[in-house]
Amino acid sequence: MSFTPLTFHSEQYKISLELRNNHLWKPLGLDMKDADLSNEKNDRHFAWLNDSDKVIASAIISGSGDIVKLRQMVVHPDYQGKKIGKKLLCKIEDFMIAKGSARIELHAQVQAAGFYSKLGYKKDGEEFIEVGIPHIKMFRNLLCSTC
Ligand SMILES: CC(C)(COP(=O)(O)OP(=O)(O)OC[C@H]1O[C@@H](n2cnc3c(N)ncnc32)[C@H](O)[C@@H]1OP(=O)(O)O)[C@@H](O)C(=O)NCCC(=O)NCCS
Repeated sequence: MSFTPLTFHSEQYKISLELRNNHLWKPLGLDMKDADLSNEKNDRHFAWLNDSDKVIASAIISGSGDIVKLRQMVVHPDYQGKKIGKKLLCKIEDFMIAKGSARIELHAQVQAAGFYSKLGYKKDGEEFIEVGIPHIKMFRNLLCSTC
């Protein structure tokens, strides 16, 4: 099992797209085939690989500098509840600290907010609807590491 940054349009990136489409988009009634993902060339892509080097979890960081945004965090259902999400996010945080970032923000699905809270993320403001379901803005200041 290992952490890796992904190159945009690499084979592993394409597997991460399938993972996101099947387990993040389709449960919300969305399909990536209708989406323009060309802007993702500007993002940083990260994955967790199983022992066969298959992508089993992934997430994206958009932006650069002090404040960056985490998006599209997903763990394959066969691997959920095994601390893969926690390990992936901790590695992403370390990576972004090394790049000089000081804060990660995200729009959490409310059903997943407890996951981020466990990792030290704080809620910011009221719930709102995004892609048809309740979300809440969350953030973590990276300089106070809990991992
Ligand atoms: C949410 C998700 C990324 C969590 O990843 P995971 O690998 O299953 O979580 P972990 O095993 O690393 O859990 C770490 C901790 O968070 C807790 N946790 C995980 N998911 C949770 C949830 N939905 N609500 C509350 N707590 C949660 C775990 O119980 C664990 O707590 P512990 O350390 O006290 O034992 C994953 O379940 C997932 O991909 N879900 C479907 C897609 C999704 O909701 N993505 C997030 C969109 S914002």
